[in-house]
Amino acid sequence: MTAASLPVPGRSAAPIVEYGPGAIDQVPAIVGRMGAQRVLLVCGRTSFEASGADRMLPELEQVAAVRRWSAFRPNTDSADLAAGVALLQDHRPDLVLGIGGGSALDMAKLLVGYHDVAPDQVVPAIEAGRPAERRTAHLVLAPTTSGSGAEATHFAVVYVGEEKHSITGPAMRPDAIVLDPALTLSGSRYQRATSGIDAVTQAIESLWSVAATDRSRRFARHALRLLLPAIETFVDGPDDRSARAMAIGSHLAGRAIDISKTTAAHALSYGITKRHGLSHGHAVALTLGAFIEAHATAPPRHLQPAISPEDHARTLAAVLGLFGTSDPTAARRSFEDLLDRLGLETRLGALGIDAGEDLRQLAATVNTERLGNNPVAFDTDGLVRLLTSLRH
Ligand SMILES: [Fe+2]
Repeated sequence: MTAASLPVPGRSAAPIVEYGPGAIDQVPAIVGRMGAQRVLLVCGRTSFEASGADRMLPELEQVAAVRRWSAFRPNTDSADLAAGVALLQDHRPDLVLGIGGGSALDMAKLLVGYHDVAPDQVVPAIEAGRPAERRTAHLVLAPTTSGSGAEATHFAVVYVGEEKHSITGPAMRPDAIVLDPALTLSGSRYQRATSGIDAVTQAIESLWSVAATDRSRRFARHALRLLLPAIETFVDGPDDRSARAMAIGSHLAGRAIDISKTTAAHALSYGITKRHGLSHGHAVALTLGAFIEAHATAPPRHLQPAISPEDHARTLAAVLGLFGTSDPTAARRSFEDLLDRLGLETRLGALGIDAGEDLRQLAATVNTERLGNNPVAFDTDGLVRLLTSLRH
């Protein structure tokens, strides 16, 4: 392939998707086809080896000069991003390869999106909401968890201290995605549970989101048809079948929220993660049951203006139907019972969250833009009431 015929980074009509057990072995060929010669590998400190993704590294090193970077923490932080940008500007890769969970993939996306920002300007750029408009390097993403769906979205989370920001932009869409379910088997039971339930919550939130479209709902429904029957086996004793269902389901949930964005349960989760150290999926799942009940019982006057009461009723009937019921409280209980079976603690006291002041502070930290995408309007007092209804 000559330089003139190389695909333009970030301009592919649709990413190449390699799927199946062993798909990770295709990475060197993908990198070769893109003509990349300098690769920045952004991957987890231990998950890269534990997942088995490392076995393609010797072959990749035959194709390109590879520099590995794993010196970043979970829940992508601006200081780590600035260090990564400095490394990127030094190494000047023509391809960034993100392999790992949601944080590693978000970091790879942010690096290509902020490739031209001076390291000491990273925080001001994040705070100004600078979008990731274009990139000069190719981007290839391979999740090792099922899953955040981060490989499918054009946005990424980054924290400045305790403040959560969402960066968006077309530059963060990858040129190629490698979905290898065999990589997802090595995580702990808790990791599989928290990642898997993140995908379930993303699909449910996508269904009722203000920004949902027919297309996003198709992705979300398909995702849930795969995720819900598979998640317990995947957490308790993952086999090939459940791993495949979770890998595809998580990816489809990612494609759903790429269109619809997420809603109030996600908006509340960031404060829970930062203040109380709860893993992302666990933090989202903590309130989703309460939102299922609240959304299914909300009177039409509480709906956002863009939501028709008929559509909302139909959507919520479908959500309740996922739990085999038409009763909002029974659906909430059914979701919370699922969390119990997955080993995800739901009692606030056991999670170190005080039922008084902590809940008011959590409600106050919510990003109001995210709440505007929630089908039911909530103010801070409404969120406090919802949080107070959680198990203590
Ligand atoms: Fe999520």
